[in-house]
Amino acid sequence: MDRESIKAEVARLRAEISHHNELYHGRGRPELTDQEFDALERELRALAAAHPDLVAGDSPLDRPGSDVDTRFPGAPHSRPMLSLQNSYDPDEVAAFVQRVHDALGRDDVLFTVEPKIDGVAVALRFREGRLVHGLTRGDGRTGDVITANLATLGELPDRLEQGPAVPGGTGAWEARGEVYLGLARFAALNIEREEAGLEPLANPRNATAGTLKTLDRVEVARRGLSVFLYQLFPLGEDDQPADDVFADHRAEMAALADLGLPTNAFLREATSAGEILASLDDLEALRGELDYQIDGAVIKVDSREGQRLLASTAKAPRWGLAFKYAAEEAETRLRSVTLQVGRTGVITPVAELEPVLLAGTTVSRATLHNWEEMERKDIRSGDRVVVVKGGDIIPKVLRVVTDARTGDEFPVRRPTHCPVCHEPTLRQETEVAVRCVNLLCPAVLAGRLRLFASRDACDIDGLGGRSIETFVAQGLVTGPADLFGLRRKTLAALPGWGDKSADRLLAGLAQVPARPWEARIFALGIPQVGVTTARTLAMHHANVNALAAARADDLADLPDIGPVVGAAIERFFATSAGSRLVADLRRMGFFHEQEEQPTPPGPEGEGWFAGRVFVLTGSLGRMTRSEAKRAIETRGGKVAGSVSRRTDVVVSGARAGGKRAKAEELGIEIVDEEGFAARLAEEE
Ligand code: IVH
Repeated sequence: MDRESIKAEVARLRAEISHHNELYHGRGRPELTDQEFDALERELRALAAAHPDLVAGDSPLDRPGSDVDTRFPGAPHSRPMLSLQNSYDPDEVAAFVQRVHDALGRDDVLFTVEPKIDGVAVALRFREGRLVHGLTRGDGRTGDVITANLATLGELPDRLEQGPAVPGGTGAWEARGEVYLGLARFAALNIEREEAGLEPLANPRNATAGTLKTLDRVEVARRGLSVFLYQLFPLGEDDQPADDVFADHRAEMAALADLGLPTNAFLREATSAGEILASLDDLEALRGELDYQIDGAVIKVDSREGQRLLASTAKAPRWGLAFKYAAEEAETRLRSVTLQVGRTGVITPVAELEPVLLAGTTVSRATLHNWEEMERKDIRSGDRVVVVKGGDIIPKVLRVVTDARTGDEFPVRRPTHCPVCHEPTLRQETEVAVRCVNLLCPAVLAGRLRLFASRDACDIDGLGGRSIETFVAQGLVTGPADLFGLRRKTLAALPGWGDKSADRLLAGLAQVPARPWEARIFALGIPQVGVTTARTLAMHHANVNALAAARADDLADLPDIGPVVGAAIERFFATSAGSRLVADLRRMGFFHEQEEQPTPPGPEGEGWFAGRVFVLTGSLGRMTRSEAKRAIETRGGKVAGSVSRRTDVVVSGARAGGKRAKAEELGIEIVDEEGFAARLAEEE
């Protein structure tokens, strides 16, 4: 592309992004899915990084890596959304009952037991019977405003109806509860996705969280989320909670139902630990028949007076307890063991199972971790095995049902050769892992390239898993550095490619040298070095020479790096593979003589900057935006791209426009450049 067409493309992308921003935030009528919106932003970002000289001026993109979800405005909760203390065994339940009895000075206390829905907590505000505001939990004090998405919930009435249990009319109420995706709906969606060639959704809870953060409300409605509500309180002026009106939790639940809001049918009463435990057993027995996932039960002191007396800690109410069930188990047959080769060459055994329903999803594969564990559990091909979901997402084989053995089962030996490249494997004394040590093994190479291109590393737009497989299979690349030598003509001629995808990848590659230093360290794929360690390394080494020269002992002195990681880093640069990678990448302009090092975390809880969210707008005369950003972060502040209720301070330079106006409208503190400089000087 020549300069003029790049300029035109940048202008087009900016206009389009601003338009969709306005549709979403301004008019509440988004037309793009968040993936589509992200794709636009990535395109602009890649162009901006590759041609910084052509993209001067204000850009709608300018929202640097802040963890605030700026696509959704934030708003404070009327009262904090707390969590619950967890318990896992009957003794803890008995101890809770005892604590309540002691604190209240009586032992005739009524408790309720209800399911703990495994979904996403939300707060819904109704005014004159209509839903006016819907929030996620966020950090418990401030949530993301997702009213439009929550309005798609089919079970919410268009208008609240007032029944006998609702005092004070339908005025202003806040109801809280859990949004979830029903299991039948979840299974249907995954079938559709599979047919469309999409990755399946991992589990109902993740699917719910992802759906609630989708910008396309038509898609949200199509997914078919559901909700159970379990809290209700009236609101007064300015959405502050008004005086409570219910005598107990049972009355609160009855009022929810009277308003036409969905509540769970299981609500038991109990007056002793024994009765509570019996209810927990009843609920657990029902668990497999429910169309939604529950991860336990919630036990609450019924009376509001009791709840008020017991009160809450900063984190959780003392009147409630969550009882978590053990992970669900299922029994099935292990058909065979296959081998997976990762990017570090580690060969992991994977159990191929006869499909079985487990905690709402069909499981047909499970990890066996490594051979040592397989031998310890004596897992054999053909065995009947018990599987559970670890962290509820990746299933694993828990144990063998040895009684069911027929004699036809056989142990699976450690592989002496890599299943992909067939080179001999290596097993080091100190390691449990069996490795393929062939750096050119297609599986290892593809894994390294995937890491190199990934979001936290080089974030290469246009380089997905499928392209990587093609490059490896066609022998176009033998390492990450080769990516930079790929020619437009070669790329465009690949099956399924064309000029457009070739240009997209080239633009993606062009921005790699501008990636943060820590991201490029992470991209090297040094064993044991994740995102956090890469950041520490970047903070303490000015360039790749300094890093490669570092000794294990010195590295081990850095925060969060011990002797094992230190040794792994030193070893990486000492091996021929590591030093060759560095040399090849250096030739491609991947490293800089003087890298821009990340700022150390600022002092917490002190100073004017600490813990506050800043937005920069207008042009600053004395410093560049990135200098200002760094200065704020060094002092413990954060910088966000757009003004929302979560913004604490707007730094307004010359010719500030919309952001300043929005800050004024929201009553957010505004400082000019002079005032900002003075604050910086105070905390030098
Ligand atoms: S009552 C002060 N009841 O579990 C918190 N919570 O681990 C009162 N949850 O944050 C919450 N089902 O998101 C309550 N029947 C239920 C629940 C429930 C699920 C969630 C809720 C809460 C979390 C605590």
